Amino acid sequence: MSPEEIQNIKNRFGIIGNDDRLNRAVEVAYKVASTDLSVLVTGESGVGKEFFPKIIHQFSDRKHGPYIPVNCGAIPEGTVDSELFGHEKGSFTGAVSERKGFFEVADGGTIFLDEVGELPLTTQVRLLRVLETGEFLRVGSSKPIKTNVRVVAATNLNMEKAVKNGTFREDLYYRLNTISIQLPSLRERGEDAAFLFRKFALNFAEKYSTKPVRLTDDAVRTLLQYHWPGNVRQLRNIVDQISILEKDNKQITRETLLNYIPVEDHHNMPVLSTAQESGGHSYAQEREFLYSVLFDLQKQVTNLKHVINEIVSKGHVKIDDVNLETGDMKEPFDNMIHQSSGSSVPVVHDIHSDVDGTKTSIIDKGDSNIQDVEVIDDSALRWDSLQKDAIRRALEKHGNQRRAAAKELNISERTLYRKIKEYGLE
Ligand SMILES: Nc1ncnc2c1ncn2[C@@H]1O[C@H](COP(=O)(O)OP(=O)(O)OP(=O)(O)O)[C@@H](O)[C@H]1O
Ligand SMILES: [Mg+2]
Repeated sequence: MSPEEIQNIKNRFGIIGNDDRLNRAVEVAYKVASTDLSVLVTGESGVGKEFFPKIIHQFSDRKHGPYIPVNCGAIPEGTVDSELFGHEKGSFTGAVSERKGFFEVADGGTIFLDEVGELPLTTQVRLLRVLETGEFLRVGSSKPIKTNVRVVAATNLNMEKAVKNGTFREDLYYRLNTISIQLPSLRERGEDAAFLFRKFALNFAEKYSTKPVRLTDDAVRTLLQYHWPGNVRQLRNIVDQISILEKDNKQITRETLLNYIPVEDHHNMPVLSTAQESGGHSYAQEREFLYSVLFDLQKQVTNLKHVINEIVSKGHVKIDDVNLETGDMKEPFDNMIHQSSGSSVPVVHDIHSDVDGTKTSIIDKGDSNIQDVEVIDDSALRWDSLQKDAIRRALEKHGNQRRAAAKELNISERTLYRKIKEYGLE
């Protein structure tokens, strides 16, 4: 494909950037569009994955058929099968009438399964079946229904890891990943961050009939050094904020730009550290930092629970190999558990008995002595209220928009939905 043809597609869909891998991704999407092969789009959050199923649909013979985007992470686990595949009247409490699912509605078109890595395992079985046979069953029915749907899926999860951890079926992964489109993060796109900044600033200025904000050379360098954890989404938000709040500033200096970059990220840019002293951080930025710390902590606790469940279900596991960051069996875990009796943590080699939610018994092989060890200490209640507060604030900040709040909190929409219920925040 010629560079002009690729540029035309990018213009049509509003994709900005000149990075080679981005161009290649556009080309692959265009080339596979005319087939019925499943496509899996991967890349970090905010890299622009949602453009690609649209390109594929628009350049396919299905373009006059339906295009159905489904955010798998946003549907509560209990209803996801019925949403995707429909249900029969009376198949569960509340199923007062029959209902068509997305796979039935998308017949003749394309279905975009966003955040596909969030699908429960039982739904994954149903999905594999429809991909392999073109048939599915409504919930509560044993009559197969035929559908002709092209599936494009996307995820920001590491799917190989999900397969390894047993949260995603390997056969389904290979089936979805027939064609793979991997999008580079913004920090890997060379000068694109500066280019995107200029384009977004121009778009903003055109929309509101103002002058576009401009960066000094220093600020451009800072922009290119930053690691952009939220990728293009984060960059666009920053351009919008600067365009509004700094509209009287002819030139945006590095110091001004720093006010819009989360303060916890400054340490990733050594040359920027002085900005902190010069008042370059705000309460809002600190709060964001606290959220991310809290949710990292929560992830570790969840992983810890997962690890313990696994240990208990297996009966005998070497504790020396547990990594709490990932939930993998890697690093020692005795420094994360707090012994309720005695001052030092025993040398733990085997976990022996049952877990009651907060406590488990372990065998100290040293003297074959069984002791009670608190896995999560009595600060659980305090933790709950901190978490509840963080969720409430995030929801407030985003005008109750769950999707945006979940993004900020770095949790899936389904987890947020569950937490909202659990804490009665509705
Ligand atoms: N290359 C780009 N040009 C213009 N806008 C972009 C580009 N990439 C992303 N965006 C914009 O950034 C925002 C985030 O993109 P998108 O929703 O596609 O992210 P994503 O990869 O699906 O992330 P997530 O995994 O968090 O869902 C959107 O508003 C999108 O329009
Ligand atoms: Mg997305």
